[in-house]
Amino acid sequence: MGRILVAGDIHGVTSHAVTLLGIARKQECARVFVLGDFGAWEHMRDGRHYFDVVDRAARRQQLIVYFLDGNHDKSSLVRELYGEHLDDEGFLVCRKNIRYAPRGHRWTWDGTRFAAFGGAYSVDKPWRLAMEALRERKAERRRVFGSSRRPATTESLWFPEEQMTDEEFDALLAADESPVEVLLSHDKPRASAPALNRKTAPECLPNQDRIQRAVHTLRPQVLLHGHLHYRYTDVIDRGDGGLTRVEGLGADPDTAPQPGYDRADSWLVLPLPYQHDAVGEELASRAG
Ligand SMILES: [Fe+2]
Ligand SMILES: [Fe+2]
Repeated sequence: MGRILVAGDIHGVTSHAVTLLGIARKQECARVFVLGDFGAWEHMRDGRHYFDVVDRAARRQQLIVYFLDGNHDKSSLVRELYGEHLDDEGFLVCRKNIRYAPRGHRWTWDGTRFAAFGGAYSVDKPWRLAMEALRERKAERRRVFGSSRRPATTESLWFPEEQMTDEEFDALLAADESPVEVLLSHDKPRASAPALNRKTAPECLPNQDRIQRAVHTLRPQVLLHGHLHYRYTDVIDRGDGGLTRVEGLGADPDTAPQPGYDRADSWLVLPLPYQHDAVGEELASRAG
């Protein structure tokens, strides 16, 4: 029987990533799955270095690190670089021990069926675009005055592919509508109600609706997601008389954490094959 350490956003914070791998090892997990905002920034030198360090740490701990894309991962570049390098389960091999789950990917581990849907809307999009423009102006000045240490386009901070379009999502969902036990996503489903949520702008809702549609179609027993940087558990109606347990995971400690933040908020262990545990049963009866 396998165990997976599922982790919330890491945002390229190497020390947190390496700490999580140590925790995974102690928890006797052979796999780590990061729910987006992993830090896939290979358009930048620091981003490539981060991948190398995490890969080396994963090898040392004899772990494979999987991730789906968050709004702050440059997923278009991941697909461009590794789209032809698939492992036996259809994950993109980014490094020997780092694998990417593309949007709509499905697989089975220890008899448990999984699906992954990355992406979300960035509430800080205007700030990121303003920063990009500022850097572009600085780079232009460097070019004018004879110094061009680095091209401005290598440091984009906002990624147009940050969320699925309805067309993309509908096609992915229609390709296989059979149920899964575990749904992994970056964004929350529309119906879950965390006590703390700063991502409530109207622009956030279309993608939450997509994840909600995935819940209604795939009828998972549990959905795990990141993005809110907040740890909570909820239960939502999955549309067929059953309930889906939702686990929102916290992020790295460098990202404005919730009051009383504990690193343990950023991960949980999912034993396989997945079985609705006591927490899920209790929440389900409370919701019922
Ligand atoms: Fe994040
Ligand atoms: Fe995010």
